[in-house]
Amino acid sequence: MKPRLLAAFFIGSALLVIAIRAQEGDLINGQRIYAAKMCNLCHTLAGESGPMAELGGPLDGIGTKRDAAWIRLYLKDPMAALPEAKMPRIDLTDQEIADLTAFLRGCRQK
Ligand code: HEC
Repeated sequence: MKPRLLAAFFIGSALLVIAIRAQEGDLINGQRIYAAKMCNLCHTLAGESGPMAELGGPLDGIGTKRDAAWIRLYLKDPMAALPEAKMPRIDLTDQEIADLTAFLRGCRQK
């Protein structure tokens, strides 16, 4: 019985670590999604701007301005975080939102 309990405990903790990791998101993957979903279309970031960049404006320093919970909510449903939001709701999975959030949180103003 005891070794079984121990095994259950270790498997449980491993799953917990994986769950927390997933929620944190992957910064590098977030950068890839930012490019793939063409966020660049309406935003400027690190000197790169898309054809409608004046619409969404710069995202430089967004990681200092907004916390992770706000960014996550905004990406899931812009109007839930910002009632007057003009940014369209973009089709993103929870994992993509977590990764994008990690990436945007890493965009700090120097
Ligand atoms: C069609 C244009 C458009 C696209 C595409 C777009 N955005 Fe936006 N975004 C906006 C606008 C406009 C705002 C300003 C706030 C508002 O009106 O919603 C904004 C605001 C934001 C903000 C909040 C900025 C702040 O200073 O609070 C974040 C974060 C953001 N966008 C991330 C993204 C990400 C990530 C993507 C790609 C998945 C993306 N945007 C794609 C138009 C766009």
